[in-house]
Amino acid sequence: MDPNPLLLLALLALAVAEPPPTERAALLSFLSQTPHESRIKWNSSASTCDWVGVTCDPNRTTVTALRLPGAGLVGPIPAATLSHLPSLRILSLRSNRLSGPLPSDFSNLTLLRNVYLQDNLLSGPFPPAIPLLPRLTRLDLSANNFSGEIPFSLNNLTRLSGLFLQRNHLSGSLPSINLNSLTSFNVSYNALNGSVPRSLDRFPESSFAGNLDLCGGPLPPCAPFFPAPAPSPEASAKSSSGLSKKAIIGISVAGGVFVVLLLALLLICCVFRRRRRRRRDKPKVDLPPPPPAATGVVGETSRSGEGDDGETNRLVFVGKRGYNFDLEDLLRASAEVLGKGSVGTSYKAVLEDGTTVVVKRLKDVAASKPDFEGHVETIGRVADHVNVLPLRAYYYSKDEKLLVCDYLPAGSLSALIHGSRGSGRTPLDWENRARIAMAAGRGLAHLHSAGIVHGNLKASNVLLRDDPDSAALSDFGLSPLFSPSTVPRASAGYRAPEVTATLKTTFKSDVYSLGVLLLELLTGRAPNQAVTVGGGDEEGVVDLPRWVQSVVREEWTAEVFDAELMRYPGVEEEMVGLLQVAMSCVSTMPDSRPDAGEVVRMIENVVGRAGDDDGNAPSRGGSGAPTPPAAATP
Ligand SMILES: *[C@@H]1O[C@H](CO)[C@@H](O)[C@H](O)[C@H]1NC(C)=O
Ligand SMILES: *[C@@H]1O[C@H](CO)[C@@H](O)[C@H](O)[C@H]1NC(C)=O
Ligand SMILES: *[C@@H]1O[C@H](CO)[C@@H](O)[C@H](O)[C@H]1NC(C)=O
Ligand SMILES: *[C@@H]1O[C@H](CO)[C@@H](O)[C@H](O)[C@H]1NC(C)=O
Ligand SMILES: *[C@@H]1O[C@H](CO)[C@@H](O)[C@H](O)[C@H]1NC(C)=O
Ligand SMILES: *[C@@H]1O[C@H](CO)[C@@H](O)[C@H](O)[C@H]1NC(C)=O
Ligand SMILES: *[C@@H]1O[C@H](CO)[C@@H](O)[C@H](O)[C@H]1NC(C)=O
Repeated sequence: MDPNPLLLLALLALAVAEPPPTERAALLSFLSQTPHESRIKWNSSASTCDWVGVTCDPNRTTVTALRLPGAGLVGPIPAATLSHLPSLRILSLRSNRLSGPLPSDFSNLTLLRNVYLQDNLLSGPFPPAIPLLPRLTRLDLSANNFSGEIPFSLNNLTRLSGLFLQRNHLSGSLPSINLNSLTSFNVSYNALNGSVPRSLDRFPESSFAGNLDLCGGPLPPCAPFFPAPAPSPEASAKSSSGLSKKAIIGISVAGGVFVVLLLALLLICCVFRRRRRRRRDKPKVDLPPPPPAATGVVGETSRSGEGDDGETNRLVFVGKRGYNFDLEDLLRASAEVLGKGSVGTSYKAVLEDGTTVVVKRLKDVAASKPDFEGHVETIGRVADHVNVLPLRAYYYSKDEKLLVCDYLPAGSLSALIHGSRGSGRTPLDWENRARIAMAAGRGLAHLHSAGIVHGNLKASNVLLRDDPDSAALSDFGLSPLFSPSTVPRASAGYRAPEVTATLKTTFKSDVYSLGVLLLELLTGRAPNQAVTVGGGDEEGVVDLPRWVQSVVREEWTAEVFDAELMRYPGVEEEMVGLLQVAMSCVSTMPDSRPDAGEVVRMIENVVGRAGDDDGNAPSRGGSGAPTPPAAATP
């Protein structure tokens, strides 16, 4: 009659076997701190292991899994709750409305294997706790609001087989996650940029789709210096078999893998050209002998060999300061697009030894090789003035025309004036604006004195150095390299009215552009963004000079000046003076514009005092100023 004592004991044992109270408390604490739908009822008189969504180990001594998908959980995951479940192996809280970051104490859950948090509103940087979970095999954080970079330390998760990060706001470049265990991978629909690392290019295109600017791997190739000119199948086969897999991985870490492929193509091209050239007659190359100063360190790019072998397709250095690299170094450099302009694309190239240069890839060059070389040598020779960005080297082949110049990390005047106004940026004060105006004027006067028309003067071609007096003009004198129909004729907003008709930039049209630049410094307005006139009787949109004219015609009003300048007392007189200089430069009649040298003198007269208290300001008095002989219009 008595119940079997053994059975009772067993039942008792079962009922008593219970995870430690800390785990029970942790779960209750999690649920009580996380608003949720009333469906989840954890009966406090029942065993923890019987609660909905809770799984224990077979002995019922510890919680090993928590699954509450689609349970209507809302809000942040509270800290010091789930982290008290030391045996947790599976955590699924997907398809809820959890928000905020993952608590950092998740790093205590060192046995976690599967984490499913997709389809929530979790945010913040990639959870730092995740790379510290050594047993992680599947991680799904997709469809959340995570931002920032994907950490390289994911490489520590040597058991990871599935990584799902799609549909977040992750940015930066994709680290080389090199895990053999990884079989599923998805980072689509984030804001990633840069190249797909070689270690991940086995995954399909849809793993990477919908990002900001990812390239390479299964995606379209990254923008290189040298385009892939319709690669022949042999060429690509050759290059991929020519490099060991290890080498490729190593190189891809440095980000240059695509460039290597192109290098191979280029070499093939060169060999081909060399052969063809040997068959041809020695071409007539009638170059002016380079002046002694114009032969750089790589003067051994022996111009003597020109014509009878492939030597001509090498990087030719100009100017005094020598760089110590060659074309192959350049091709191996990691490159970043700085901008696309009317003459081509500019890249910032970081060579393996850390040297940083700007490489301009010119498009639609019409000049023949001798003309190109002659003209570029001329440009290189004049660039020995602090306010002119020196050209360092060039490269000319049938398919590629490159110019190499110094890289100035401080960026352009355009970025300084117009970049991110308001947000914590220190406004450019009057003295610095005046000094940059002076520098631009001196640079232009120097070019004109050497007989070179800038042709494309604008704020983004005024590059800054730490010292505003050393701001330098870039991208000058390139017009003769292009055919009259494609020639860049100064950017809209800076283009003198007569240039539209004559298709020709002149010294006087440069002065017009300089005037617009001065107006830009004074008004803080971008000339290539037309200004809308409030009135209504005139046409709605005018260019910057006409807008300034319309404002000042009524009265000399402070309204025309950049609001950021109005906080500096006692400079209005100088500002008005510079405005008058600018207005004389933007006269519609070319002949009534002053010469660049005169403009320099006028600016000196107006703002000469601005730098007097500053001992470094060179030649403020004007004696040493590079005021060239008045240049004639070509
Ligand atoms: C909780 O569990 C006990 C016994 O396991 C049961 O008697 C009670 O009805 C349950 N309460 C609820 C609200 O389900
Ligand atoms: C759980 O039971 C297994 C045998 O089924 C045993 O080896 C193990 O030590 C037990 N674990 C604990 C914590 O009691
Ligand atoms: C996490 O682990 C550390 C050290 O192992 C410990 O000091 C801390 O109390 C733990 N935190 C939680 C919430 O368990
Ligand atoms: C995502 O996070 C950003 C801030 O990081 C926030 O502005 C945005 O509202 C969030 N989006 C959602 C859907 O929560
Ligand atoms: C990853 O592992 C390396 C060595 O294995 C270690 O030095 C590094 O601190 C680890 N990183 C993280 C985030 O755990
Ligand atoms: C990616 O974008 C960031 C900022 O948007 C930028 O700093 C970085 O240079 C970019 N990287 C590449 C490879 O384009
Ligand atoms: C990656 O995720 C996106 C968006 O959810 C999906 O469309 C795509 O098919 C996924 N690709 C892979 C390889 O899983």
